[in-house]
Amino acid sequence: MPAGLTLSIIKPDGVAQGNVGDILKILESNEFQIRASKMLHLTEKQAAGFYQVHRSKSFFKDLIRYMSSGPIVVLVLQGTNAVNRLRDLMGATDPQKAEKNTIRKLFATSIEKNVIHGSDSEENAVTEIHYFFSDLELLV
Ligand code: CMP
Repeated sequence: MPAGLTLSIIKPDGVAQGNVGDILKILESNEFQIRASKMLHLTEKQAAGFYQVHRSKSFFKDLIRYMSSGPIVVLVLQGTNAVNRLRDLMGATDPQKAEKNTIRKLFATSIEKNVIHGSDSEENAVTEIHYFFSDLELLV
């Protein structure tokens, strides 16, 4: 897997609110290249599989219900220092704590409905990319 990749998800609230175009524009204008993308409507089982690391958290059940509540857009992004730069661009998990002009500050409405996901490490990025995409689907 080439360096500089991360996985991002525009979550059900982002899709339902009509933020997909705005978010893609922000990503592309910040030197992220889209290397793969697809729109999916996850089952609860698929959402639980993706968020296994959070299975013991109090918010897990709600998170799974929310992530399977509507379509999402899954993206593989490439760029320098992609994991950390995307997380900076997204802003804090809780949009109330997010910096001005971050994606979550601009579009998110709560700590759960926070519009966008980004991998939290390069190692997890590889795992998360493979959860959604086969090697054949990656333009890298
Ligand atoms: P994400 O970065 O995708 O990782 C886990 C998700 O759980 C998080 O974004 C939120 O959508 C959701 N979540 C819901 N409640 C909480 C909480 N109290 N703390 C962190 N994440 C939460």
